[in-house]
Amino acid sequence: MEDLPKGLASSNAPKIAERLGSISGGKVLDVATAQGKFIDILIKTLQAYDSFVGIDLCPSDESKKDMESAKKRFEGKAVQFLQMNAENLQFEDASFDTVCISSGLHHLASIARVMTEMKRVLKKGGNFILQEMYCDGEQTEAQKASELEHERAARIDSLLGITHNKTLTRQEIIGIADGLKLSEVEIFDSTHPVECLFCERKHECEDPRNQTTFQKIVKDIDDGIERIKNHVDLQTRMRLMEEGEKVKEAIAKSGASPASCLFIIGRR
Ligand SMILES: C[S@@+](CC[C@H](N)C(=O)[O-])C[C@H]1O[C@@H](n2cnc3c(N)ncnc32)[C@H](O)[C@@H]1O
Repeated sequence: MEDLPKGLASSNAPKIAERLGSISGGKVLDVATAQGKFIDILIKTLQAYDSFVGIDLCPSDESKKDMESAKKRFEGKAVQFLQMNAENLQFEDASFDTVCISSGLHHLASIARVMTEMKRVLKKGGNFILQEMYCDGEQTEAQKASELEHERAARIDSLLGITHNKTLTRQEIIGIADGLKLSEVEIFDSTHPVECLFCERKHECEDPRNQTTFQKIVKDIDDGIERIKNHVDLQTRMRLMEEGEKVKEAIAKSGASPASCLFIIGRR
């Protein structure tokens, strides 16, 4: 792998990519795929694969557009996108060799129902791959500032009727993985998600106070207030605006970095 910035190089992200490189994915299902970014990562890292299906609930007009642009982005490749509720997967039992979910758990109304469905459609001996950020443990000040912004953004989604729960704790994620009763379980704990390895901004992001990240979060905060302007009362909007300003201050002071995450691989 090319020259990585120090923080990313010392995280477990390179080990996770190496482990993915030993997996033959076969027919892969990516649940809560959004724009299919995790499919991009798997295409770059898996030893081999036959095809991908990305499914998403697409609860908003914006997410429907995201799926349409994902379809165009993967045109001509063995990648299909379907709007579908993961609580009721429209696939036969044991129809996939690999199932995965990345950054999706805290967006689900019923994690238990989705986990049962993902396991049902996975072949015996198939790979279950789960990546999810967590909110506790030894996070840097920049990671804590990002978490503040995440909580605020999650509340805005919730006001708009889109499920977006608080970030899970490390133990909650491990509990969910335990409940799957997989075999050969491997748990990687990483300060950086695996996608950082392939990000063109990875060197810039090594400094959590970089201006691009700051400007992007400021824009996200302002866009969030715009999204709720017709939906909630003035008082709620004022409170969220005040909180947005506090988050901007926290990020100006400490910078912002993605939360640490768990990457879990097991076999059904
Ligand atoms: C943060 S995004 C996932 C990001 C994506 N996996 C990636 O790696 O870039 C969370 C997604 O979960 C989806 N989602 C929430 N509930 C769902 C459900 N019941 N079935 C399918 N998708 C769901 C949301 O629509 C949203 O697109």
